[in-house]
Amino acid sequence: MQIKGGHIKDLFEPKSIAIVGVSNKKSKIGYKILYNVISGGYEGNIYPVNPKGGFILKKKVFKSIKDVPEKVDLATIVVSAKYVFPVVKECVDHGVKNVSIITSGFSEIGNVTLENEIADYAQKRGIRILGPNIFGIYSAQSSLNATFGPDCILPGKVAIITQSGALGLSMIGKTSVENIGLSAIVSVGNKSDIDEADLLEYLVKHDKTKIILMYIEGVCDGETLIRSLKKATKIKPVVVIKSGSSKRGAIAAASHTGSLAGSDKIFQEIMEQCGVLRAESIKDAFNWCKFLSQSSYPQGDKCVIITNGGGIGVMATDACEKFGISLYDDKEMLHTIFKDVTPDFGSTKNPIDLTGQATSKDYNLALEAALKNDNIHSVIALYCETAVFDADNLSHMIEENSKKFLKRKKPILFSIFGGEKTELCLNKLKKKHVPVFSDVYESVKSLGSLYKHNEYIIEKKEAFKKNKFQSGSSDVDILHFKNKYNLDLSKINTIIARIKADNRTFLLSNEAQELMKACNITVPSILIARTLDEAILASEKIGYPVVMKILSRDIIHKSDAGGVALNLENKAEVIDAYQAIMYRARQYNPHAHIDGIEVTEMVKKSTETIIGARRDSIFGPIVMFGLGGIYVEIMKDVSFRSFPLNTKDAMAMVKGIKSYPLLLGVRGEKKKDIPSVLDTILKLGALVYCCPDISDIEINPLVVFKDGKGSKAVDVRVLLSSSNNGDKNE
Ligand code: COA
Repeated sequence: MQIKGGHIKDLFEPKSIAIVGVSNKKSKIGYKILYNVISGGYEGNIYPVNPKGGFILKKKVFKSIKDVPEKVDLATIVVSAKYVFPVVKECVDHGVKNVSIITSGFSEIGNVTLENEIADYAQKRGIRILGPNIFGIYSAQSSLNATFGPDCILPGKVAIITQSGALGLSMIGKTSVENIGLSAIVSVGNKSDIDEADLLEYLVKHDKTKIILMYIEGVCDGETLIRSLKKATKIKPVVVIKSGSSKRGAIAAASHTGSLAGSDKIFQEIMEQCGVLRAESIKDAFNWCKFLSQSSYPQGDKCVIITNGGGIGVMATDACEKFGISLYDDKEMLHTIFKDVTPDFGSTKNPIDLTGQATSKDYNLALEAALKNDNIHSVIALYCETAVFDADNLSHMIEENSKKFLKRKKPILFSIFGGEKTELCLNKLKKKHVPVFSDVYESVKSLGSLYKHNEYIIEKKEAFKKNKFQSGSSDVDILHFKNKYNLDLSKINTIIARIKADNRTFLLSNEAQELMKACNITVPSILIARTLDEAILASEKIGYPVVMKILSRDIIHKSDAGGVALNLENKAEVIDAYQAIMYRARQYNPHAHIDGIEVTEMVKKSTETIIGARRDSIFGPIVMFGLGGIYVEIMKDVSFRSFPLNTKDAMAMVKGIKSYPLLLGVRGEKKKDIPSVLDTILKLGALVYCCPDISDIEINPLVVFKDGKGSKAVDVRVLLSSSNNGDKNE
């Protein structure tokens, strides 16, 4: 079987390329691709292929790929859909390493079988496929423009991977207009074989690529993508634009974890966990790519705003708060740094207000003061057009200061706002790769993305120092998590085997409690009674008040069947409740097999949370957290992460819900035992990770007591995956 990632380097850096389906008709895609390959300056061998032979664009045309005198690294296929498979077979026979299939008419229009057959055939024979349904690939490394897009692509530091062809093609044009240089642009189309994860492997190691932008519509193999993104973002920023609703939305909701798993929410939170910068618009994405590919990283988190306008300064301050940028606020120090460069009627409080009378000289002095001071780590410089400013010096002032800041590795952005002169200056500077914006919000947002990535890298480095564990083989991972979270895997597997032998895909509540105990998750005291006498004895042993619940594999929704009695305070109440539960259960389902009655401790009231874990069909193991009751049911106030995750990630997840302050204690209530919540999240994640048979677990509620007093998993619902099982589920 083909090793994934096999020939990806040859896709970006081919020594030879064939264009199968080349044409001498200028209107055809086959002609355009050959034209682009030649005019782009590709220096490898070029082999046009068309049964008619002859010459096109002065290149000899080969009648078949079989006649090409070498094993080419890349064959671009531009024949109509019905001829693609035979051409791929010829490519395989002729030792081609990669094919990029431009042709449309496959899975995107429902022609899934043919696409899969081609991909299977190629993969089994060690040939990689890009596409089908793509515009091709551009790689600055080898001056290769094997696309049917514009013939003139500006080389540079940004790599783009796009699922949308038309959008990708127009991005090529737009990047040129915006003066964004590309190191590569690849269209992945239907992703029959090569996907984003494969391409990331190459681009992460590619030194000339400083930032990667991905446009994603749908994810097929989320687990691999997560792994690749986690690796990539530790090295360089990855910006993602995601549109469209994912296939996940259609997955039947088996639990809250499932039903709350709005596809975009999961995607968003997992991307954040992977350190990805998610852009809402192409404009944001391009701004970030431009800025991050040319800026150095800040040495600390303190930022200063320098402005000649109060209003714009306040706008920038608001934006800083929104995008997580800390403003330097040591007033005395700020006064010392800026007092000599600010007029008496200005302000040395951050924002530093040079006032409307500021000239380029005033900006130079203030920026110099910020540059020299080590307590200031980044600068946002704002300019509102005024009649007193020597406008002819504006672009010079900005350019010179940008250079100085770059040299000293201190990030700076300019936001300039005004009329014609300012616009001219803006366009001139953009062409010179100077970080200048017309909108203050956009500039602050761009700096925010730099900080976000910087913080992610720092955090990951710290985590690596503390915990050298790196994901290895899956067996090693399982052993690691088993030990780390103290999971009794042999007991867990015995329980699961028993359920499977019983041909069930759900666990009875006592079995679910048993499973929790094997994970060292605290559950309420529980005893099973098969007679009234046993129920009385169990209640006395546990201590009043108690709860009684019917225990039957045929009655899943116990409350609906009248099979639950709460807060039973004494023997008389237990006798009444026992008889009532049995009677109602018989009425509800006369044929139900009744295993007995479960007597449990009545757990004291405290904050109720819901913790879930499931094996997502796209992203693999994911965990969910929310507060119980209306917070989850009505407000859908939940957060998700993919597993593995560390305690810090779990804390971010808990803090990520709006109702988090309730765990800190409100209206005189004590703070709740948050470490116990984190522990339960991590254990459930590890359980689903280590046991592929478990598809869903939900603790609802996990009652969390005051700090130091732990928590109890009161109700636990567990589903096994239905493969290999009979379907005796609800
Ligand atoms: N080997 C080499 N050349 C072959 C061939 C083979 N086995 N079989 C046919 N050809 C030749 C044809 O004779 C033709 O040559 P000609 O122009 O000299 O007559 C040439 O290859 C192209 O084939 P043709 O059947 O005429 O197709 P086309 O050029 O009209 O269209 C595609 C081909 C791939 C462009 C078209 O099918 C398609 O899919 N278009 C959409 C592409 C797209 O939008 N992709 C997604 C972008 S995001």
